[in-house]
Amino acid sequence: MSPDAEGAAAALPGHNSGQRCVFDESARRIKENSRFLAGGVSSNFRLGISPTPLVFERGEGACLFDVDGNRLIDYYLAMGPMILGHNPAVVRSAVEAQLARGILYAGQTDLEAQAARKVCEMVPCAERMRFASSGSEVVQAAFRLARAATGRRTIIKFEGHYHGWFDNVLWSNAPTLEAAGPEEAPNRIAGSKGQELEAGGGIEILSWNRLDLIEKRLARGDVAGVIMEAAMCNAGAVQAAPGYLEGVRAACTKHGTMLIFDEVITGFRLAPGGAQQRFGVTPDMATFAKAIANGFPVAAIAGRADVLDLFGQGVLHGGTFNAQPVAIAAALATMNALTPEVFATIERRGRRLMDGIRSELTAAGHKVVVTGWGQFFHVAFDLDAPARNYRDLVRMNKAKYVKFTTALLGHGVRALERGAWFMSIEHDDAIVDQTLEAVKKAARDIGAA
Ligand SMILES: Cc1ncc(COP(=O)(O)O)c(C=O)c1O
Repeated sequence: MSPDAEGAAAALPGHNSGQRCVFDESARRIKENSRFLAGGVSSNFRLGISPTPLVFERGEGACLFDVDGNRLIDYYLAMGPMILGHNPAVVRSAVEAQLARGILYAGQTDLEAQAARKVCEMVPCAERMRFASSGSEVVQAAFRLARAATGRRTIIKFEGHYHGWFDNVLWSNAPTLEAAGPEEAPNRIAGSKGQELEAGGGIEILSWNRLDLIEKRLARGDVAGVIMEAAMCNAGAVQAAPGYLEGVRAACTKHGTMLIFDEVITGFRLAPGGAQQRFGVTPDMATFAKAIANGFPVAAIAGRADVLDLFGQGVLHGGTFNAQPVAIAAALATMNALTPEVFATIERRGRRLMDGIRSELTAAGHKVVVTGWGQFFHVAFDLDAPARNYRDLVRMNKAKYVKFTTALLGHGVRALERGAWFMSIEHDDAIVDQTLEAVKKAARDIGAA
């Protein structure tokens, strides 16, 4: 930002102005837009946010600017994608260069081949890959490949893990403890009204981080695939127990089951090669989206050559927008910018923010657990210890946390109500300091427990 722009921005309500942010114009527009746009939003995950879903005018670096004239330090980062921050010059110029050459060809491009090669260089499991447009889609592709490769039907998914909104996989993402049943044999709980219940017939639910349970289930020899977030990030920021990922890997190999890591959040975020690189366990396939293209709709499925090559042997994978050249230009520019130094820098600043949040909240008398990694972490109130799985995490004090994020927003910091915090390379030490000031004020606003 130029010094002039910085001076002008400093006058706005927001994180460093001393003025409390209000969101009346966003609320008014959401109501008005709801006459045409269902709920005033284009995704259910943007509904019901306190005090109102927001309407934005622009994003730059670590900040978003809304229609009320607030400048907000942003930790949603579009639910994960913006690892280089909002509107980075490297991505913008790659996109502009491609735009001058056309938009969509229904054919191959050199950019697409370069981006595919880059994915295969960065990601340990990636011998081959394909592009698509959303995480939900590539999960479906992984299921189809797993079933074709094994001749089996059943896919195991874990409680609290999210793999997209389609009927066959939207199960037990956020069940109540009453509905969830026993930990040894969880119920399969539908995630939406209107869901085709028969579509869940190919999915079985297990509790995550219990090696005994998955080993026992796989030993029956009829499971096509196991899908998991290799670090649980849609609920909490929970690392697998020591030996768990290795144990699941060994059991899948032993029983001829495809291990699928859903790296839609962790990919290109926890490390250049994702969670599989950071934790040193290589799946048969992995799915990516979000941070791969810093905000452009690009997803990828990558994995073993013999499995991905089934796409040329009767397994169908389509998509009009797959490898859309403008979006792929963004993906290639993003991946080229994601050097090990970028991850190390985000790690250091993120750890400082985690420590600061923990100590500000504790100093104000709150009981708080902060878990995760510098690039992505989670804050929970009133847990006795870090969660090991969904059932532990669901006991956190969600109502109090929503009060906290609502108060934070008033002080110019936007953080997700589910406790997740995404970091970007634009969240520098000054931004971390400003965030911690806002945390201190919000901690006071909500009062001690
Ligand atoms: C782990 C994981 N898998 C899949 C998806 C679905 O991706 P998309 O929203 O791009 O369809 C998400 C989205 O948040 C996700 O976090």
